[in-house]
This record gives sequence, structure tokens and C-alpha cells, in this order.
Amino acid sequence: MKKIILILFIALTTSAFGQKVENLALTPPLGWNSWNTFATDINEDLIKETVDAIVESGLKDAGYDYVVLDDGWMARQRDENGKLYGDPEKFPSGMKALGDYIHSKGLKFGIYNCAGNKTCAGYPGSRGHEFIDAATYASWGVDYLKYDWCNTEKLNAEGAYMTMRDALYATGRPIVFSICEWGDNKPWEWGEKHGHLWRVTGDIINCWDCEIGHGSWSSWGIWKIINMRKNIRKYSGPGHWNDFDMMEVGNGMTEAEDRTHFTMWALLASPLIMGNDVRNLDDATLKTLSNKEVIAVNQDSLGIQGLRFSNENDIEIWIKPLTNGEWALAFVNMSEQPKILKFDWLRHKMGDDLNQRFLDFKKETYSIRDLYGHKIIGNTTTELNAEIKSHDVLFIKLEK
Ligand code: GLA
Repeated sequence: MKKIILILFIALTTSAFGQKVENLALTPPLGWNSWNTFATDINEDLIKETVDAIVESGLKDAGYDYVVLDDGWMARQRDENGKLYGDPEKFPSGMKALGDYIHSKGLKFGIYNCAGNKTCAGYPGSRGHEFIDAATYASWGVDYLKYDWCNTEKLNAEGAYMTMRDALYATGRPIVFSICEWGDNKPWEWGEKHGHLWRVTGDIINCWDCEIGHGSWSSWGIWKIINMRKNIRKYSGPGHWNDFDMMEVGNGMTEAEDRTHFTMWALLASPLIMGNDVRNLDDATLKTLSNKEVIAVNQDSLGIQGLRFSNENDIEIWIKPLTNGEWALAFVNMSEQPKILKFDWLRHKMGDDLNQRFLDFKKETYSIRDLYGHKIIGNTTTELNAEIKSHDVLFIKLEK
């Protein structure tokens, strides 16, 4: 009997090939992560205030639900039983109490660790402690684990993530598994078997198109990340996403750049994880982050990562097929000057060869909905005319 129960448990959680079959992250996860703004300077009050702000600002209603504590939450050593625990000065009430608070507000609890001996900031890593750590997280009610790749020496990447996946399964608790391996070992080729999202590059930074070197590694601006990984779209889909990193919206770029950054993450079907201080939101940042029409594009159930259609005269056009034969299109002004857009639909054929979806404007007419202006601005029988400010975007949906 015991044997039958065990076989049933394994069959329910994994397929015959050890692949995950549970229905988590069928659309890209939405939430907030502490790292981009606070690094390791996090504590109980900050997280509770953040939770409250997500609820009160309407961001929860817009769909953001995971609250993820990144590096720096834990004590510098394990306890006498080898278990991790929260830094008692930063989290005096303990991690379970914090998880309870997050859950009491209708949000979900995310936490961070690393496949190596130590995390990137030098806290105890999970190597050799995977099963005890997963069990500890489950006992705190953790719903999401971001699992990093520092101090891993010669560890095999896929093997390391598989071990942690098995440890999470062994808890019996559904936990979204966020692989943070920076793209070093092409996680898009194996990540689907083990996790629900995987970082595709090194760390993001709040600039349009810069690369900031730090010796052995670099931080990457928005367009560096997009261009580096625009061609791995076939690996992304429901339950398994290319993760373009936590967002920098609200962290110092211009309003137009923030809007374009947000639009592109939505169009690329990336997880939308806010990385700003949501306790101090200016109106423009809140308006961008809580735009439900843009979030709906990101959350479209087909889960197709968008693609670049053209790049002419400093205007990039990106397209994403949506359910019901509708499409999202972004016209991005890459230049330092305003641009006048004139787009004659009838002279263009657009499509997504990978997914065999095509647009033929001679055969079918679509209404054009401006997703930031929140109104219909015409249809595809007449030329689209618009002025787009420097680094800004016209983001539209073609509706039937
Ligand atoms: C790595 C990750 C970041 C962040 C830090 C924490 O750099 O890529 O997202 O988690 O570690 O130390």
C-alpha cells in the first residue's frame, strides 16, 4: 500500500521523465522583489510596508501578487540543526510570521537562496542542504523560490537546479521555481523541465542601453538585455518563461523610457517583477505599472514571446500574437529626437513564422486600440499617424 501511495505521489508531481507537470505560472509571474532598490538592506518593517503599499496603491488589483525577499534575509549561520532562519535583527518576528502577514493580505511569499555554498552576498547557500532548506521554506508557507548561481565552483547547472526542484517537490507544496543562472549554461534549453522561469542574462541596471562593467561581470541596460535574448523566444511559454530580470521602472530612467521598458517586458512575456520602492510611487510610475491593458498583453493565455518585425529609420516595431487572433504592436522611438510615425497597414504583411500566425490587412480590418491612451484611435484601413517622443512607445492592440 505504501508503495502504491509513493508511486502515485511521484506520478502526480512528475512525469515518467522527471518533468514537472503541475500547473504553476501558466502566465508570467507578477510581483515585487527587494533587490534592485534595497540590495541586502531589507527588514520586516520594509517588507510589511511594501505589502501594504501593493494592496493600497491598487497594484495588487492590477495582478502583482508575489512579494519576493532577495539576498540578505537570513542569519549568517545555520542553526544547530542545520536549518536556515531569518536574521533576528532584521526579522525579529521570524519568517513564518512574515509569510503569514503576506498571506493575510492576499499576496504570496517569495524567498531567495543560491545553488552554491554561499549566496552572492555571502550568506549561507543551499549546496548540500537542498532538502532541509526546501522543507524549511515550505514550513514558512513560501510560494516562490528564486535560486541563484554564485559560488557554485564546478557544479553542473542543470543538475543543481534539478536537485532543488526535487527538494521542492518533496515538500508537497506548490512552489514557483525561479532559476537565476544568468544565461551562462543556456537554461532556456533545460529550464522547462525543472523550473517555471529562468533569468536569461546577468543583472539589469536602470539605463536605456548601457553596459556597466564590474570586472568579471557586467550589468545590462534594457535594450542590451532585449537584443541579447530576442532570439530564444521558442523556449518561452505557459509554465516556463524567459525571465528578462526584475524591472527598473520607477528607478531613475525617464517616464518615456520606463513606459517603453514596461511595454517591452509585457510584449516579451517576461515575468513582471517590480524592483522599485512601491512605498514611494510617483503618479507616472504607478500609472505605468498598473496599466491593466498592458498587463493583459503580458498575461495573454497563448504565452507567446513577441518578436521584432522591423527596425527602420530609428523606429523599432515589435509584435506579439494574442488569443482570438488579436495582436499587440509596439512602435518604439529609439532616437534622441521626436519622430513622426506614418504606417500604411496595407503595404505590410506581418507574422510570426514560429507560431504560424499571420496578419493580412488586405483581407481583414482591425480596430486600433491605444493601450496607454485607453481608446480606439482608428482602424487598419487608413494610415496610422502619430508623433512618438524620444525613447517613448506607441503601444497598440489590433482588435477584431
Ligand atoms: C545575483 C542576481 C541578482 C540578485 C543578487 C543577490 O546578482 O542575479 O538578481 O539576486 O545576486 O546577491
